[in-house]
Parts: sequence; C-alpha cells; structure tokens
Amino acid sequence: MSCFSCMSSRRKDVIDIEDIQYDSLHSHSSAERGRKKTLFNSRSDISINAKTNVAQSFTFRELASATKNFKPTNLIGEGGFGKVYKGRLDNGQVVAIKQLDENSLQGNQEFIVEVLMLSLLHHSNLVTLFGYCTHGDQRLLVYEYMPKGSLEDHLFDFEDDKEPLDWNTRIKVALGAARGLEYLHCAANPPVIYRDLKSANILLDNDFHPRLSDFGLAKLGPVGDRTHVSTRVMGTYGYCAPEYAMSGKLTLKSDIYSFGVVLLELITGRKAMDPTRKQGEQSLVVWSRPFLKDRRKFVQMVDPLLKGRFPVRCLHHAIAITAMCLQDEPTFRPLVGDIVVALEYLASQPYNPESNSGNPPLTSLQRWDLGAFSEESGSRKSCASL
Ligand SMILES: Nc1ncnc2c1ncn2[C@@H]1O[C@H](COP(=O)(O)OP(=O)(O)OP(=O)(O)O)[C@@H](O)[C@H]1O
Ligand SMILES: [Mg+2]
Repeated sequence: MSCFSCMSSRRKDVIDIEDIQYDSLHSHSSAERGRKKTLFNSRSDISINAKTNVAQSFTFRELASATKNFKPTNLIGEGGFGKVYKGRLDNGQVVAIKQLDENSLQGNQEFIVEVLMLSLLHHSNLVTLFGYCTHGDQRLLVYEYMPKGSLEDHLFDFEDDKEPLDWNTRIKVALGAARGLEYLHCAANPPVIYRDLKSANILLDNDFHPRLSDFGLAKLGPVGDRTHVSTRVMGTYGYCAPEYAMSGKLTLKSDIYSFGVVLLELITGRKAMDPTRKQGEQSLVVWSRPFLKDRRKFVQMVDPLLKGRFPVRCLHHAIAITAMCLQDEPTFRPLVGDIVVALEYLASQPYNPESNSGNPPLTSLQRWDLGAFSEESGSRKSCASL
C-alpha cells in the first residue's frame, strides 16, 4: 500500500507534515458532500482528493443537533484538544464528537494532521474518522463511538462497579494495539510514526477490540537513507523514548518504547507517570527497572487486581517483550512485526483458571527471553528497520 503516493512528487527526502502550510479547511454543507473536492491545498500543491476516502464535512448545525447542543450530559471525556461528546447523527449513527477548545495548546495544526492521517489510514485497529467540521473558529472531529472508552479508563482509578481487565483481555488489547502500530510502521508508505501511543489513546469497543486514536501528532517517517525525522519533542510525559526526549530525533523505535510503557501499564496496573506516588515510584519505567532485571521478582510487579489469575510463564514472556521495548538503545528494541508475532503466541495460550493450563511450552518463545533478542533475529517483516 502506498498511502502517501499523492505526495511522491515532492523532492524532499523527508516529508515533514509540520513543514506543510495548509489552507484552512472550509466548511461544506451536506449538499456539497457528493462532489469531488480537494481536502487540503498547500503551497506545495499537495492535494488529497475524494479518491483517498476523505472524511466528510459536517455543518455545525448537524453536530449541535447530534449532541443536543453539546449538552453536558452528553460529555464523555476531555483531553488536551478539548471536550468529547457522545452524539447521534440524523442517520442514527452514534458518534463521538471532539470539539477543539479555543484555549487548546494543540489546535488547528493537529486538527489538520488528524483529518489528513485518518483520511488515508484505514485498519481495524485504528479509530474511524467519519468527518470534521470547520465553522468560524470552531473545529470539530466526528469519530465512531467506542462504547468502552479508553484503556486508561479500565486500568486506573478503579471504581467498585467496574470489573478489572482479566489477563486474556489485557493480551488481546496489547495484540490489537501492536497490529495497529504494525499497520502504521509497515503498511503505510512512507511509514507513519504515531508519536502519541498511550493507554488514553487506545479506545475499546464492546468486545474490548482496541483501536488507536489521536493522530494529530503523527509524523511521516524517514525515507531513503534517512534514519530519523527531527522534530520538536511532543507526546506525553512518561511514554516518551529517552533519545527522542533528549535530542528530538524521532524514529519508529520511539513508538516501540511507548508501546513498552503501555505493556508495563497492562501488566502492573500502574500509570506511566503518577505524581501521587512517592519519589522513585512516580515514573513507572524507573520503578520497574529493578523488577525487570530479576526474573524472580517478575510476579511482584503484577497488578494486584488480577488476584494471581495469570499464567506465570506467559507473564515472563510478556515482561521479556516489555523489557526489550524499553531498552535505552533504540536499535536494540524489537520491530513491531516481532512484537505482533510474540503477542499472537501469548494470545493463543489463554489463561484458563479451571484447568490452570495457560503455560505455553518454552521452546517457541525462548528467543523472547531477556537478552536473547537481537536485531538480526528473524523478523516477521523487514519494514523500516531503524
Ligand atoms: N471515539 C471515542 N469514543 C468514545 N469515547 C471517546 C472517543 N474519543 C475519545 N473518547 C473519550 O474521551 C476521552 C478524552 O479523549 P481525548 O483524546 O480528547 O484526550 P486524551 O487522549 O485522554 O488526552 P490528550 O488529549 O492529552 O491526548 C477519552 O479518554 C475517552 O474516554
Ligand atoms: Mg486521546
């Protein structure tokens, strides 16, 4: 697949979305939707037209009606971009509508990148963008509604009426998120660096099928001989790869580090960054280091809410994958294709409390033991091995 073939006429080696000056999006009425239209016009004549499944434009009136005038009872969440409302479109479709806050630090640039990326990228583990609305200063995004909210909602700050995620669901979520990332890194051409992988951005449907969301920070990866893209450091504290935080050098391996942090959250039930904890425990990665080094301590890391209901051998492998993703040296981190293979294997060995037979034989996963992985080991796909 060549998602970005429409951009291939550019002569620059690295396509940097932040370099592109887009005209502001114009609001289109419903009647205009059928027409072939250009979504973005840039100074460099990059245009993406209807062929690429552009998201449709909605009028502000349609979205106000869908959310009963943005009624507070329809509010389902709030993030850096602004408030998120549940709504129902005229055709009966239930949607989540994100409204850019006028004081948002994120803003129009991210709005444009989000629409651009999600018009081009389509996968069962990425959230679907139905459309957008620009009306005066208003910027709104219309997504499919994900009834179980975000992974974050199911791991932390637990209320009594909620069931904690069981082991098998945690592996299912990890695998789906890895497949979404594999699509971005391996199927998109040039690859897409997600840059904002975190549990708040993994949305869940009724069956806990995960979908990655929020592509406003995504970057097109390096092409040709380039090894990295240079950018302003963006993302979320606690998930950011150390080399990216220090130098701004962004590679696909920055996403792998963030994925490792999400795996740690799934295993431990602790937040990537938790200022309410005592010094030394606020950063999950820092807290986890002594445990990751000593396999006898692995079980002590596990989320107490699992109440011991997990297969010990699978846990060891999941922690080995996590530790490799979190290596300081980016080139030692695995490729996403290898992570998918390993998680597929763990998913094929579900924990069964009745038979207590969730421990896979060691042989096929031995290469995932700590320290055993190297870049040269057989990779599932030879995509962008940075
Ligand atoms: N498509 C959706 N379906 C259902 N709920 C959603 C959807 N999108 C967002 N939400 C809810 O809204 C909340 C806020 O999402 P949002 O993406 O705006 O912020 P965030 O990811 O939590 O934080 P940040 O903006 O800092 O990245 C989510 O945690 C989730 O509960
Ligand atoms: Mg989000």
